[in-house]
Order: sequence, then structure tokens, then C-alpha cells
Amino acid sequence: MSAFPDNFVWGTATAAYQVEGAWNEDGRGPSIWDTFSHTPGLVANGDTGDVACDHYHRLEEDLDLLAELRVGAYRFSISWPRVQPGGSGPVNAAGLDFYQRLVDGLLSRGIAPVATLYHWDLPQELEDAGGWPNRDTAQRFAEYARLMGEALGDRVRTWITLNEPWCSAYLGYASGVHAPARTEPAAALAAVHHLNLGHGLAVQALRSTAAKDAQMSVTLNLHHIRGVSEADADAVRRTDALANRAFLGPMLEGAYPADLLADTAGVTDWSFVRDGDTAIANQPLDVLGVNYYNPTLVRHWDGQSPKETADGHQDGAASPWIACDSVEFVRQPGPYTEMGWNIDETGLTELLLRLHRDYPDLPVMITENGAAFPDPVSPDGRVHDRDRVDYLHRHLTAVSEAIAQGADVRGYFVWSLMDNFEWAHGYAKRFGIVRVDRETMERTWKDSAFWYRDVVTSGKLPVG
Ligand code: FCB
Repeated sequence: MSAFPDNFVWGTATAAYQVEGAWNEDGRGPSIWDTFSHTPGLVANGDTGDVACDHYHRLEEDLDLLAELRVGAYRFSISWPRVQPGGSGPVNAAGLDFYQRLVDGLLSRGIAPVATLYHWDLPQELEDAGGWPNRDTAQRFAEYARLMGEALGDRVRTWITLNEPWCSAYLGYASGVHAPARTEPAAALAAVHHLNLGHGLAVQALRSTAAKDAQMSVTLNLHHIRGVSEADADAVRRTDALANRAFLGPMLEGAYPADLLADTAGVTDWSFVRDGDTAIANQPLDVLGVNYYNPTLVRHWDGQSPKETADGHQDGAASPWIACDSVEFVRQPGPYTEMGWNIDETGLTELLLRLHRDYPDLPVMITENGAAFPDPVSPDGRVHDRDRVDYLHRHLTAVSEAIAQGADVRGYFVWSLMDNFEWAHGYAKRFGIVRVDRETMERTWKDSAFWYRDVVTSGKLPVG
């Protein structure tokens, strides 16, 4: 029996670069993702976010869509270069106007806005000045947060500073499969730190500008890491330090884990961490955002046999797993989604229970969960995405299981409201519960959207 608290928040999520389009309109400056997607060969099929879902021009239609879905909340991100084109200086009023209309449009439909400040689209000018490995970027981010707090703080009650800083740091600066496509492990660890610092500074800036009762949060893609056997405990510890505790440590405990510093000593001396930085990163939060797609399975690598790299990075290519040469990422049993990610909702229950054990006073919300599937359009014109319904059902059951065992989970946001630009995969991977026709931009509800509306309105999962 699944059960969710009465005030459980049901929502859907998107991110600016993935849906908005209008990449060079109304004074928007270029971001690192414009540069990345405009570089031939970096995104599948040469896709870009230039048009994306044209959400920028279809705002009213998409707001109505959310209202028809009856969701209580909508998680979106603000495009930093739209509201502050070069990442510093005054607000671009025309760009800000879009978010004013978005927030007002949500509120007038009874939907709570959940605003993410940074979902990976760094103003290119800041990358040109060094990007996240450069300390000044954290200060710029705080200033941007202050401007958004002043502009929207009277109406937005839930703020998320960063989305998945793991991706920003390690995929952006170590493996280079995300913008800005750099492969510099030491810079990636500096990016980790400046993201942590930027988060703390942004929370401070928002606390002084936003509504007093506003909730502060950050979204982490915490990895639920399992070892193949007991003998793999060190592989689990090492990857957990790099992926999870590199952020949980400073943000929630005010210090970097000693084992992370030791593991990475050959890469950097961490001298970019200044006195007082981790205290700034460690701001009280009201709720922790967790994105979950699948668990991670690791094994100690003997250095001899061909190495498994089931986390998706190609053998021989730069790895996001800095100082984890002794770790193998092991392919997990299926079934799999279109991303090749295995479907295993037990990892979500276990992850939520770990967080409950380690941080019993910090509520959690699932800020992303969902799946890409082939989604063919049937002759009846509909998308019968039973596999997605099954995925969502399993994961929501897993959430309710964690709640039953004591975890304080406040909400759940499906990734994603609609098919969109899936980063380096382009438009080939469809995560939406609403289909977007790439030619006409027409939005069509998939079966999962109807299913989700029923869950949202009843607050329960259907039986069976
Ligand atoms: C997450 C991202 C989100 C989306 C999903 C599939 O890592 O936060 O933008 O791409 O994966």
C-alpha cells in the first residue's frame, strides 16, 4: 500500500536551456551550452537548444498544460545569461520579464513555483574568465542570486541554488562530455569547491532578499553506490567521497571529508579552499533536493583484466571519476531505459533511508525522477508509454516505502514535463510525460501524463 502525506507536493520539472529556445532574443547572452551545442560533433545529431521546445514563446500554453495536469508545483530553472547576459552587471529587464510572467502565471493557476538558479547554463563570459574553477564565479553567482531574490523573492517560496553540481564539475571540467568540455581534473575539483562556495553565498543572498518563509534548497544527484562484494568496500568509499560527500560534506557538515582530500592529493592540494569557505558553504537548508535515476555498481579493479566502464564514459576517454583508477563501474542487470540506465527503484528507497539516517532533521524532495523510452506514436495518434508509467509507479512506490520507514520526503517532481533537449544526446532521448513534436512543436499527452494527473489528484498510486 502506497501512502503519501496530505501535504505532499506533486510536480514536474524542466530546465531553461532544455526547453526555452529563443537563445539570442530579448538581450539574452550566450551560455556555455550555446557554445557547446554550436560546436560540431559535441551533441548527437548536431542538435542545439536554439529552439528547444519553444517554451519561451509558448509560455501561456505550457502554463495551461501544467494546470490541466493539476500539479501543485513546477520546478523550472532561470537562465542566468537571459537575466544577466554576461554574468555580471545589471539585470536585463526583457529577460527577467519572462520569469515574472512565468511566476505570476503559475501563481494565478494555483501552482507553486520552484526556481532553480543554476541548471548548467553559465554565461559564456564567465567561462571565458575561467568558469567554475575560478573563485570569482562563486561571487558572481551570489550577486545573480541576490538580483533574483530581489526580483522574484516576494513570490517564489522554494529556491534551489544549483542543479547537480556533480555534473557541472565532473562532466563539464573532467570528462568534458558537458559544457564547457574541458578535461582538467584539477580544475574540476576547483569547480567542485567554487560550486559549494557559490551555493552557500547564494543561500545567504537569498535569505536577505527573498520572503522570510522561503525554503532554501540545493539539488544533488546523489549516487546510490553498491559494491559487488564486501571486498569492494574501498571502491564504494572512494566513489561515494567523490560523488556524494564532496558536496554533502561542505554543504551539510561544513567540511570536506578527509578521505576525499587524501584520495585526490595527487591531483590537487586543494589550496583553493580558503579559511571560512566551508562555513559559508554550510548554510542551514530547509529541504534537500535529490535527483534519482538509477544506482551505481562498483568493484575494485585489479589493474589487469579489461576494465568495465558501465557508467557510460568510454574506455580511454577522460573519466569524470577523478582518482578512481582502481574502481570498475560494473554493468547492472536490466531492464534498461533508452539511456541504457538500469531500472532499479530499490536504490531510491535505500538512498532516502541513508539520508534520513545521516541527516535526520533535513527533509528531502525528489526534484527529478523519470525515464527516456522510445515512445512511438500509435496509429491512434497517442503515445502508450506503459514502460514510463511502470517506471514512475515503481519509483513512487519506492518513495512511499521510504516514507513508511521514517524518511521525511516532502515532494516529487517528474522529469520531465515534456520531451526536451537532453544535453549531449540532443532530442533523441525523450523524457517527457508530454510529447513534443519536433516539427510542429505540438504538445500531446502521453499515457503517463494521464496517469500522473490521476496520481496527483488522488494523492495515491493506482492499485496494480
Ligand atoms: C539530469 C539533469 C536533467 C536531465 C536528466 C535526464 O541529470 O538534471 O537536466 O537531463 O538528468
